[in-house]
Amino acid sequence: MKFQSGHQATALEGEEWERQKTHWLGYTEGLVRFSPGGWVFPTTFTKFADKYYNFEFRPTDVLVHTWAKSGTTWTQEIVWTMRNNPDLNNPMADMNVNARAPFLEFDMFQVHGKKTNDNFLENFHRLCPGKDPANGIFLQMAEGLRDPRTIKSHLPLSLLPPSLLDTSKVVAVLRNPKDVIVSYHHHCRLLNTHGYVGSLDEFVQYFVDDDLVYSPYWLHVKEVWGKREHPNLHIMFFEDMKADIMKELRRLDGFLGTGLSDEQLGNVARHTGFSAMKTRAGAGDRAADHVNAEVMTKDGGFFRKGQSGDWKNKLSSEMEEKVNKYIEEKIKNIGVPFKFG
Ligand code: A3P
Repeated sequence: MKFQSGHQATALEGEEWERQKTHWLGYTEGLVRFSPGGWVFPTTFTKFADKYYNFEFRPTDVLVHTWAKSGTTWTQEIVWTMRNNPDLNNPMADMNVNARAPFLEFDMFQVHGKKTNDNFLENFHRLCPGKDPANGIFLQMAEGLRDPRTIKSHLPLSLLPPSLLDTSKVVAVLRNPKDVIVSYHHHCRLLNTHGYVGSLDEFVQYFVDDDLVYSPYWLHVKEVWGKREHPNLHIMFFEDMKADIMKELRRLDGFLGTGLSDEQLGNVARHTGFSAMKTRAGAGDRAADHVNAEVMTKDGGFFRKGQSGDWKNKLSSEMEEKVNKYIEEKIKNIGVPFKFG
């Protein structure tokens, strides 16, 4: 199958798929690899790939662009709040952040018969009256949203419209890959859309083999870093945000042109702090049929730790060795000033 981006999709088959199938109970429709690049996605991605590639971004849009588990939701909330709620008096703030600032390609995980958070469907019908959810709940919510839109995507730049950066502002967040692995492992065990039941060791192997959904990590980073001089791209590091959020908010304010006062930036910092977001997520981050209740009780929900360096508590020295090798061979030469820690 050939796509407008020039990519070709190949289904994972044979032994490779048999192995993946035992570890990923959520990928019921199978997985595909998009080449060039070798990007891995649930098969449902093929239904929407051309629509994402041709998505009509607007000059007033801000795209929060990250690899999975790099601080996307945090940044979505920051960007949305800076643009829509700096005085913390906008009633829309009560909606789930993914309804206010849609996750562009989330429909690829919503295969037929699978339960997602019901609020999303409610919001969809409210925001897109008369539209058919089968054509993409999140895609159509993103299309139908009024200006100024904040949208989130983990897709590599090469699968998004080539005119993206010349049209809209893009805020990219990068995070130490060791913390990304630990956080993604938890996420994939927690959410039934992934349904990961393998070990952390096996998960690390998937990461270094570039076999996770959204892999290859290094190529995503390389594509973003290659555009770092573009005036419409602003890159932040999760670790810098943790170390001094006000400094990062001031930089972001300059980039977005929001012109917020120190008091307003302070509001944003407080409103988007880890515990504030975790508290607001409340029941939405607790028992629901789209999460694994056992994992949730034992290891926490979506808002897990929100720290830098937790990998030190989780990765064995053998796992760390594997990741170090991956960093050495595939990431170091890109030249990103990661805080590998
Ligand atoms: P941990 O699993 O390490 O806790 P994403 O939104 O890209 O999926 O990233 C999720 C990660 O960001 C999780 O990391 C999550 O806890 C963390 N996170 C979410 N909101 C945060 C916040 N307000 N401050 C710091 N970290 C946050």
